Amino acid sequence: MKKQIAPSMMCVDFMNIGENIKVMEKCGIEYLHIDIMDGEFVNNYTLGTDFCKVLKQNSSIPLDIHLMIEKPENKMHWFEFGEGDYVSVHYESTKHIQRALQQIKSKGAKPMIALNPATPLEVLEWVLPDIDAVLLMTVNPGFAGQKLVPQTLEKITACRKFLDERGYENIEIEVDGNVSFENARKMSDAGADIFVAGSSSMFKKELTLEEGIAQLREAIK
Ligand code: DX5
Ligand code: ZN
Repeated sequence: MKKQIAPSMMCVDFMNIGENIKVMEKCGIEYLHIDIMDGEFVNNYTLGTDFCKVLKQNSSIPLDIHLMIEKPENKMHWFEFGEGDYVSVHYESTKHIQRALQQIKSKGAKPMIALNPATPLEVLEWVLPDIDAVLLMTVNPGFAGQKLVPQTLEKITACRKFLDERGYENIEIEVDGNVSFENARKMSDAGADIFVAGSSSMFKKELTLEEGIAQLREAIK
């Protein structure tokens, strides 16, 4: 499957966001990863509904909305998204994960299920027909700039095997958290397809955006 990059928009330079998005468009960035937090599911706030709307209306890059919120099935209609966009919901955030995934599909977008580092892959078993991708958190969700939870590398390999053995070769794996150039290479070898790029790769202070993107492409190819 094609290796794709999804820059984490909470790490972007907010004073220059328009310029930055132009660079991303020029560099063929595949998705804009937008972290939505509610201060409940995770202890932080970041981006919100209006931010998604503005990017949706002003950029040609599809969205990748990562909902880190309690009971996303009750709040899905707050967000503007559609065909070509990914939306992920956490298994741990609701008793009604299948309903939440269905809601995403019914709005024409691609449903993705997100798993925290400690959540077993077995929870995927009965939602395989409902998803286009699995988001494996490689840090605990909530904050940029954390260190990789090392056993999640093995979890990527195990996830690819789990999906393939059941005939779901087409389901993509996204990785999110400390996707540094070095870790990205290992994650790619383990079978990851979509890489959330944050403070540890393309938004590194000492690099231009173009340089960061080029280095990440090199690491995952
Ligand atoms: C949370 C975020 C972060 C982060 C990624 O879901 O998506 O994991 O911004 O960037 P790093 O870990 O490189 O700071
Ligand atoms: Zn995220």
